[in-house]
Amino acid sequence: MCGIVGYIGNREAYPILINGLYRLEYRGYDSAGIAVLNDNIQIHKCKGKVSDLEKHIANNKIIGNIGIAHTRWATHGEPNDVNAHPHYSESRELAIIHNGIIENYLTLKEELIKRGHEFRSATDTEVLMNLIEDIQKNEQVELVEAVRIALSQVIGAYAIVVLSKDNPNMLVAARKGSPLVIGIGKDEFFLASDATPIVEYTQNVVYLNDEELAVVQLGEELKIKTIKNKDKIPYVQKLQLSLSALEKGGYDHFMLKEIFEQPRSIRDSFRGRLNARKGDVQLGGIIDYEQKLINAKRIIIVACGTSWHAALVGEYLIEDLARIPVEVEYASEFRYRKPVIYEDDVVIAVSQSGETADTLAAIELAKSRGATILGICNVVGSSIARMTDAGSYTHAGPEIGVASTKAFTAQVTVLILLALRLAKIKGTISTSRFYTLITALESIPKKVENTLKVNDQVKSIAEKFMDVRNFLYLGRGYNFPVALEGALKLKEISYIHAEGYPAAEMKHGPIALIDDEMPVVFIATKKGTYEKVLSNIQEVKARKGKIIAIVTKGDTTVKEVADFTIEIPATEELLVPLLATIPLQLLSYHIAVMRDCNVDQPRNLAKSVTVE
Ligand code: M6R
Repeated sequence: MCGIVGYIGNREAYPILINGLYRLEYRGYDSAGIAVLNDNIQIHKCKGKVSDLEKHIANNKIIGNIGIAHTRWATHGEPNDVNAHPHYSESRELAIIHNGIIENYLTLKEELIKRGHEFRSATDTEVLMNLIEDIQKNEQVELVEAVRIALSQVIGAYAIVVLSKDNPNMLVAARKGSPLVIGIGKDEFFLASDATPIVEYTQNVVYLNDEELAVVQLGEELKIKTIKNKDKIPYVQKLQLSLSALEKGGYDHFMLKEIFEQPRSIRDSFRGRLNARKGDVQLGGIIDYEQKLINAKRIIIVACGTSWHAALVGEYLIEDLARIPVEVEYASEFRYRKPVIYEDDVVIAVSQSGETADTLAAIELAKSRGATILGICNVVGSSIARMTDAGSYTHAGPEIGVASTKAFTAQVTVLILLALRLAKIKGTISTSRFYTLITALESIPKKVENTLKVNDQVKSIAEKFMDVRNFLYLGRGYNFPVALEGALKLKEISYIHAEGYPAAEMKHGPIALIDDEMPVVFIATKKGTYEKVLSNIQEVKARKGKIIAIVTKGDTTVKEVADFTIEIPATEELLVPLLATIPLQLLSYHIAVMRDCNVDQPRNLAKSVTVE
């Protein structure tokens, strides 16, 4: 979603701002812009990519040591040059960039129009800009105070940075519900919506909290206060992010790099938490909440998209191993459907970014009803990580491709650890079964490496199906969420319509779709419901559907029926999602590349969905 960059210091701002915008491209956007102060505020902005902005600017010399820049993912007003950020105030003495949505912008706009203000764009952001200027002029207050008063009138979510012609050594920033990080260098400050544009300049950062306002001023310490005007002491943290993690490292796309990183990212997710020799599993972050979890009337897992699919695997795992009732909820539905939440419920939020607006709102709702809230997040210091009572990081490392890959397998890994831990302390698993499972989990990274060897085979299968219009993905038990995830991956990056279904549900409707052009991907691994899935495969075969099957290594039965089989190593049934997902990630990747799609930044999508 929208990206923010700001700089103030002694260097030229323009290269830092443009470089920062490139780093934020992965978040998804449809226009970009930049404002640099040098006597006057100079804004350049246009619809399209950051490279289009660079071309747009090409013949202009942009000089100045202070500036702001933005990538916009349209909410209010179509993606065009005028609606792109930054926005000038009416007098052009101020400029603003903004992530989030001002929900009461129409009311505020009407009042401003009555007071004689005019607007150039259709955005809520310009309303906030003019409100700040209106307050500054009419109430005769300094910029910081005008921003604070304006934000106290605003309903909605925001991360903003304001640049002012009259305050050439100062940027004012604030956040509520949309992330903002401040990098502290030597006589310079960097602002961004996440740490990726900052990491190459400084490791010292401050994450702004909700309803906090920051003043960065040359030659002065960072100042933070709340919107209610209470001073806060900035909490400086060290970034644990390496620059190499933000680069493609020789791969054509971040998505492919991230798929191939999974042996490492899965290992990192259980490193230090699993000890097969000692027969132990620990999740340090939630140790104080273990009793609460095993005594919970139920666990509710809230998530969106791919994280919701990981949560579904989590439901199967926790119920299977620890025998605690689990409900998995789309965060966007949960927050609005008046759910029954008890004080002894434990709500677990699963999120890669830790910034998903719907998941954040679901947490807030559950919190207000007294439930205990835990988080499983990838991004360290993210809003969800900070809002929850406790939690576990997934340690997948930065995921830049919009399509989630390594984050999914890392989430599943942490959920496996959680289910095992709860089962152990609740006594619902035998010592030998526990030992078998943790030994099997320890061997997964090696098996993922072996699974990745199917890449060329999957690529040749992709060639055969790159032009189809529909795909069906079917699986049962632990492989049902894998089917859902396979279908999501394909549709989001290749724009081919795909549906995931529990295999047995096929005969209740989707079977009508099967003809000799319909590819059906079966996850048909051994054990569990294997025999039943075989029958489902026969049903598709009888209707001449094209069958692509993910099977356990050495399987000969499915091979006789399927058009294509892709083998994965044998493992425990409940660990299969960690392997079976990988060929499906590769299938969607290759099909999308062959269709010339923008794999890392699919159309209309954003990496962290910070609006509802
Ligand atoms: O950051 P989160 O895990 O909370 O994001 C949830 C979804 O927006 C995300 O998984 C989305 O579905 C991805 N595009 C999937 O690849």
